[in-house]
Amino acid sequence: MTHRREFLKYLAGSPLMAGLGAGWVSDALAQNSIGGGSSTQTATELALSRLPSNASEALDVFDMRAVASKTIPPAHWGYMMSGVDGEETLRANEEAYKQYQLRARRFVDVSKMDHSVELFGTKYSSPIILSAVGGQKAYHPDGELAVARACKARNQVQMLSTTTSNTVEDVTEARGAPVWFQLYTTNHFEFATKLVQRAEHAGSQVVCVTLDRAAGRNMETATRFLRIDNRTCTNCHTATGSDRRGRPMFSDIELDSNDVTSPQYTWDYIKQLRGVTKMKIVIKGLESREDAALAIKYGADGIIVSNHGGRAQETGRGTLEDLVEVVAEVKGRIPVIVDGGVRRGADVLKALALGATAVGIGRPYIWGLGAFGQEGVERVVEMMNAELRLAMGGVGARTIKEISPNNIVRRA
Ligand code: GLV
Repeated sequence: MTHRREFLKYLAGSPLMAGLGAGWVSDALAQNSIGGGSSTQTATELALSRLPSNASEALDVFDMRAVASKTIPPAHWGYMMSGVDGEETLRANEEAYKQYQLRARRFVDVSKMDHSVELFGTKYSSPIILSAVGGQKAYHPDGELAVARACKARNQVQMLSTTTSNTVEDVTEARGAPVWFQLYTTNHFEFATKLVQRAEHAGSQVVCVTLDRAAGRNMETATRFLRIDNRTCTNCHTATGSDRRGRPMFSDIELDSNDVTSPQYTWDYIKQLRGVTKMKIVIKGLESREDAALAIKYGADGIIVSNHGGRAQETGRGTLEDLVEVVAEVKGRIPVIVDGGVRRGADVLKALALGATAVGIGRPYIWGLGAFGQEGVERVVEMMNAELRLAMGGVGARTIKEISPNNIVRRA
């Protein structure tokens, strides 16, 4: 015990630990929670259980997740974290990244790294897109405005959900540049037209029309979390649940259904959409080579390989697996973006090595938002970009263009 205490004292005074922000050592000594008295907690247990008290203390997105699990109310937490049915697709997304490993290369001059990308004519700091997540005030009072400010500070793409809790006009102003607009088809094309034209008027140049929820879904985990939340939901929601009609983007639309998707549409929808907007049309939610071919045939400007974060269809593949056949079909004709299960900068590199142009994240930045608002989102981006640089350096890729299939290998 004395040895451990002495060691902790040494660590607390060490400039190395100060640089790492290891405040837990001195806290532990101050609280006498290690090394003495009745405590049975080991230093390792304590180190792992101590949550960051501010955004800069977080070391990875899982630290943000741990904090957010305490700050976000149970029903909202359950809704955001859950998938559908038994959540196999949700798990498959993360698992798919574990099927690949990095192939190290040595003696490449990686003293200068650049992970900037150009997407639809605009340059961004990195290929990490903060993908659409609806109703972000459920996670932090500033909602999408905090995310917009973080994206502005870090120059990242922000994709705004149709079911945003702040208007596209306010979010665009906070971002200080156009956001990408995610479009649910709605059940009447004239509603979609209004949404798209409103976003375009606010400055958006990219619309991401989402096709993966047309068949409906079964969110068991979300329902279980709802049952343990004893707050009065009707303060914010109707008795039957979240009411889309109250969301700001529907303020001038007489929605006649609470469901913002619809099973009735076919590929002609894209032709129709082309007729009402000049924005780049990106198809979000494709998972197969056949659909990639159809997207190109119908004039899509880009594809997002996505299964809605495992929140649409059960027992699907991880999207990284889908990506391979979509990339093979597209053959570089239009950008292919992938989202779902991306948790580390190394995951970003793996997706790019398999041919993705950029990569979307959802839950990780929402954890940052729930934990520490704008600063939390900024820190998530900072950590993931730093991890991406490390991964790039390790495989000898100095720019995004230098990332290639040679940088990864499928696990034996
Ligand atoms: C919205 O996009 C959701 O998955 O709930």
